Amino acid sequence: MISADSNARKHSQNHEGKIKVLCVSDVEISQIYSEKAVERFPDVDLLISCGDLPMGYLDFAATMLNVPLYFVFGNHHHTPAAKKQSMSSDGISGHNLHENCIHHEKKLLIAGIEGSVKYNRGPRQYTQLQMWFKVFSLIPKLLLNRLIHGRYLDIFVSHAPPWQIHDQPDLPHQGIKAFRWLDKVFSPKYHLHGHIHVYRSTTVRETVYYKTTVLNCYGFKEILLDLPKSHQAKKEKQK
Ligand SMILES: [Fe+2]
Repeated sequence: MISADSNARKHSQNHEGKIKVLCVSDVEISQIYSEKAVERFPDVDLLISCGDLPMGYLDFAATMLNVPLYFVFGNHHHTPAAKKQSMSSDGISGHNLHENCIHHEKKLLIAGIEGSVKYNRGPRQYTQLQMWFKVFSLIPKLLLNRLIHGRYLDIFVSHAPPWQIHDQPDLPHQGIKAFRWLDKVFSPKYHLHGHIHVYRSTTVRETVYYKTTVLNCYGFKEILLDLPKSHQAKKEKQK
């Protein structure tokens, strides 16, 4: 994938003090899988995938928009190619957020956890208990963020939704209890997820839970975040 740093900076200048994120999940969108994608999404600063999308689609979108890509895998990434991409640090088209926390361009703190609740022997399925341990594995990084940057997290990315927010009663689509706890305790501005397909315009896709906006990114969603105040203050000093 081509480097997007300079172009991302150019994009950021279009909306001073804010950063625009294109969030995608679960289904390919023709407006994005198009050579005209940059005309439809001209001022996007970064691309985030919540899973169950082919890496070729994500690589195409990130390249056409010339922006960095961050992703988690969903429960349907079980091709040999996807396995290789998740295990190797070489040749990955973007940054795998699974059990990881990344400070994007020293602006945004982004963490993620892949997969769904365990419902058969498929890949990237975890019991509620295993998901608790995955969330616990993020805690040292979140506490360090609070010490260094004054906040735990800006964006939490998962494939599955939190427990009883946008989820469904059947086992494969049940939400994750540990994600709900993470949102309540660590208050990311956004919790982006996928996994829950949307077939009706009346389906609720956005829910405010304590200080976190939980967003189902099925298809695509665009969000505009205020840059952290500390980052804006640094920019003012540089002027
Ligand atoms: Fe899924």
